[in-house]
Amino acid sequence: MRESFVAQRHKTVKSSLMEQVAELSKGMDDLIDLSIGDPDFTTPAPILEAGYKDALAGYTHYSPGKGYPDVIQAVVDTYKNDLGIAIGPENVIIVASGDYASFQAAFATIDPGDEVLIPDPSFMCYQYHVKYSGGVPVMVPTGPEDGWRFKAKEAEKYVTEKTKGIYICTPNNPTGACLHPEDLQEIYELAEKYDLLIYSDEIYTAFSYDVPFQSMLSVPGAAKRTVVINSMSKNYVATGARLGWVIAPKEIIGAIAMEGLHMVYSAPSISQRMARFALTEGKPYMAPIMAEFKERMFKTAERINKIPHLHVPSPPPGTFYLFVDVRETGLSDLEFALKVLKDAHVALVPGSDFGDCGAGFVRICATVGLPKLMEAMDRIEALGL
Ligand SMILES: Cc1ncc(COP(=O)(O)O)c(C=O)c1O
Repeated sequence: MRESFVAQRHKTVKSSLMEQVAELSKGMDDLIDLSIGDPDFTTPAPILEAGYKDALAGYTHYSPGKGYPDVIQAVVDTYKNDLGIAIGPENVIIVASGDYASFQAAFATIDPGDEVLIPDPSFMCYQYHVKYSGGVPVMVPTGPEDGWRFKAKEAEKYVTEKTKGIYICTPNNPTGACLHPEDLQEIYELAEKYDLLIYSDEIYTAFSYDVPFQSMLSVPGAAKRTVVINSMSKNYVATGARLGWVIAPKEIIGAIAMEGLHMVYSAPSISQRMARFALTEGKPYMAPIMAEFKERMFKTAERINKIPHLHVPSPPPGTFYLFVDVRETGLSDLEFALKVLKDAHVALVPGSDFGDCGAGFVRICATVGLPKLMEAMDRIEALGL
C-alpha cells in the first residue's frame, strides 16, 4: 500500500498558529476569544427573513451557474450607488464565499510556475490559493513604519518575468491598513508596466476608518486587469451564509463560471436571496453594528496603548482587527500569545501566522463587546509583560 493517498500539493500546507491557539484554549471556561475573524453579531433578522421568505417561495434549487440575475444586479447597483463604479452584469459572478472567490479567481488565471505577489502580512489563504493553482506565492514585505501600506515600489523589487499577478487587500487583514488613492494608483501603474492581473480583496469595505474606502476599480483603466473579491461575511456579518462574488473582465468571469460548473454548480440559493436583500435594503440594519465595531476598535486601541510595552495605531486605520506591537516585551509573538492564553485565558493570533513580517505583532479581533474587550486588556496588563 502507498504511504499516503494525499496529494503532494497538500504537503506544502502547514497548520496555522491560529489552529494551535484554538487547540490549547479548549476547556477554558473563562476564555475571552479574540482570535477568530467572525463577527459576534447574528446577521440582522430582516436579512435572514428575506432568505427564508424566498426559500418558502421556491428558491431552494440550484440557481443559474453565475447566480440569480437580480443578485448580480444588486452587486452592479451597489458598486454604482456606493462607489460610483460602472460595471455590467457580465462582469459579475456569485460564488460560495469570499474564500472561494479568491480560490476560484486564482485557479481561473494562474498557470503552473506563475508568480503572484502577496503583501506580507496578509490573509493566510491567498498563498494557498496560488499554490493550489500551481503558482508560486511571493511575499512582499510591508511594515509598521509605512502604516503597513502595500507599496508598489517595494512590490516592484519582487517582479520577475514569471510574475503574473498581485494581491491587494484594503483594509487589510490582519494589519487594518487602508490603501490610499495614491497607493492604488501606483499599484495600477506597476500592473500596467509589467502586465499583471490585480486580485483586489474588498471584503472589509465597511470598516475603512483612515480614508474612505476606494475600490481598485475606481482607478481609471484598472478594470481590464482587476479581479475583485467580495462577500457577505464581514460587511453584513454573515460568515455562515458562505456567499461572495467576483467582479472581473468577462473572459475571467467565463473561466470562473466554467470551473464553478464542475465544482459547486451554483452558490447557495438561500444565501443569494439574503444577499439580494442585504445589498439593496440592508444598510440601515447594518449601521448600528458598524457603529459598535468602530467604538470597540477606537476604545480598545486607546486602552492597549496604556499597557506598558504594547503599541497599536490609535485611531486604528480599518477592519475589526488590532495589530499590536509586542516587541518591547522581549517575547516573540508566539511566546506572547501562548503566555496570554495560558496565564490570562485570552486567545489572540501570533502575527507571524500571516507572514514573516508579522513577527513581533499579535492580532486582536474586536469580535466581543466592549466590556469583554476591556476585561481582556485588564487581564493582559495584569501579567506585567
Ligand atoms: C481578507 C479576507 N479575505 C477573505 C476572507 C474570506 O471570507 P469569507 O470566505 O468568509 O467570505 C477573509 C476571512 O476572514 C478575509 O479576512
